[in-house]
Amino acid sequence: MTAPRFRHDGIAFGCDYNPEQWDPSVWPEDIASMREAGVDLVAINIFGWSQVEPRPGEYDFEALDSIIELLHAGGIRIDLGTATSSPPPWLSTLHPEILPVAEDGTTRFPGGRQAWCPSSPVFRERALALVEQIAGRYGQHPGLELWHVSNELGCHNALCYCDTSTAAFRGWLERKYGTLDALNRAWGTTFWSQRYGAWNEILTPRLTLSTRNPGQLLDFHRFSSDELLDHFRAERDMIRRHSDLPVTTNFMVEAHIRNLDYWRWADEMDVICNDHYLDHRLGDPIRELAFSADVSRGLAGGDPWLLLEQSTGAVNWQPINHAKAPGELTRNSLTHVARGADAVCFFQWRASQQGAEKFHSALLPHAGTESAVWREVVELGGLIDRIGEVAGSRVVADVALMFSWDSNWAADSEMRPTHEVTVLDQVLAVYGALHSLGITVDVIAPGADLSGYRLVVVPGLYSVTDQDAAALDDWVSNGGSALITFFSGIADEDDRVRLGGYPGAFRDLLGVRVEEFAPLAARVTAGLASGATATVWTERMTATTATVIDTWVDGPSAGMPAVTRNDRGAGAGWYVSTMLDAEAMRATVLRAAVDAGVTVEPKHPSELELIRRSNGDASWLFAINHGATPVTVDARGEELVTGVSIAGAFEVAGGAVAIVREVVQ
Ligand code: GAL
Repeated sequence: MTAPRFRHDGIAFGCDYNPEQWDPSVWPEDIASMREAGVDLVAINIFGWSQVEPRPGEYDFEALDSIIELLHAGGIRIDLGTATSSPPPWLSTLHPEILPVAEDGTTRFPGGRQAWCPSSPVFRERALALVEQIAGRYGQHPGLELWHVSNELGCHNALCYCDTSTAAFRGWLERKYGTLDALNRAWGTTFWSQRYGAWNEILTPRLTLSTRNPGQLLDFHRFSSDELLDHFRAERDMIRRHSDLPVTTNFMVEAHIRNLDYWRWADEMDVICNDHYLDHRLGDPIRELAFSADVSRGLAGGDPWLLLEQSTGAVNWQPINHAKAPGELTRNSLTHVARGADAVCFFQWRASQQGAEKFHSALLPHAGTESAVWREVVELGGLIDRIGEVAGSRVVADVALMFSWDSNWAADSEMRPTHEVTVLDQVLAVYGALHSLGITVDVIAPGADLSGYRLVVVPGLYSVTDQDAAALDDWVSNGGSALITFFSGIADEDDRVRLGGYPGAFRDLLGVRVEEFAPLAARVTAGLASGATATVWTERMTATTATVIDTWVDGPSAGMPAVTRNDRGAGAGWYVSTMLDAEAMRATVLRAAVDAGVTVEPKHPSELELIRRSNGDASWLFAINHGATPVTVDARGEELVTGVSIAGAFEVAGGAVAIVREVVQ
């Protein structure tokens, strides 16, 4: 059976709607205001379990029936939740064994949300019974457009260490390795007297006195991601018995959330959905937003995807929750659309008066419709409606960035050369350089098809299989260019270090040999011959066949190469063995991109995002100016924000966006 496709008229504009919080007399008012704002897709019943099943096996659909009818009558399409994200109190009272256990062995109690063990058969059975009721009741309802399984699976409960999870982990390991010998080899258990002689000796990696076995931790991450994916499949298969609409769940491709290997999940989704919130704990939240959008498009294999949640203003879960500046909401939303989103949705419709999220922004704030937020929401809704023609089109990129959750788990392990850097720091540094140059990037998994790209950047890909390393090397030898950064190609998929000099998997591709890592102390900078500075990492390297581009003048690797370029067959392998300062990183990436034949404007203003979506017949150029001063963009066609014709150079004001339907030459 071919997967059901998500179909919506134009680009969807919507939100989570939690009407249970309000008196039913408010609901018709909500629908009227939604229409005013152009809301045409809402996610409901996301946290509805305790309403629709107030007592075990007793269902009450009265409120949900009314909400569905009201939305449908108002012409608002429905993304129907399966309500299984947070079990009701009666379930954990009846079955406390469903509660998750943290790595220190303590139980996580109900009273928050998502308090369930992903491997619990009791939870699964109860959840599926509920899904059967919901899918059976609404599966054929004409108001539905999409099924929303659970909510952000793994947001809080990705890693459970209870006895049920431990038994499931053993089963997963047995299926993976077949024999204990194979497992002992993969985990290197001869070290520190960890050899297992029976399956029941193996535990989930609960807290230990010292560092835990890295192989065990890595497999536990893989297992935990697979367990939740299995839960998704079970709910989806239940829905399929009653409905042929697309089924999905909302991913969390976000800086600090890293427990699921979404490359393994992506194929199971009928449409890829992401939730994204600006993270002000990061140096540059806008770049991370763009990266998250590009990852979402990568997961969708280049097809359009849906932004199911973002915020109109502040969230409530960061140490300081920043409001958005005027225009920021529009710029951020358009960044997602430019990068392939066919939906712009929010958490949540009406700001809560009570409960954990009462200080989280919403489309309709506590202040009501007499507010700047509401006015910008209504304006944005109008704009999203006007650019509906963009829906279905794709983004074209000739640069790719290789990214792997699996490798990241191994790289950011408990004991590593320095804790001053994470993979994500490396990813965002390289991505940031590309972004500041206005170069559009596809995010791909190791082993993905590279034809069609001119340059592939590989930031901190610590572990890689022989096969994936060989595929990259072949592609480069046949004329591609790769730019690889430090702590890449170090280990195989079992986290076994590759011997003979780092970076084992890419030594020949890069024409370098590293004998030793020599990280820098915190906040210490070392200088390079070019005048650039670098932080965090140095390594004691010799160039075997590579040309040295830059050399350390001081620091622990003084006199040794820091940046190199290697002719590899018909292609090139660039190596950046440190965390260059932002300007030097931009210059190096620019040089590699030009060398690879990527079209790039060296003077591209770093605050400007310039991205093209096209569908073969037409193309749209998105210009998003995150800076305060005007930028000049060159385009021909109709500008859809203002409706003005553009014939060449035009100005995009500070903080403004422009979307030009381009004239086909
Ligand atoms: C998401 C979640 C929403 C809401 C939101 C607040 O993680 O799916 O239900 O809590 O965060 O930012």
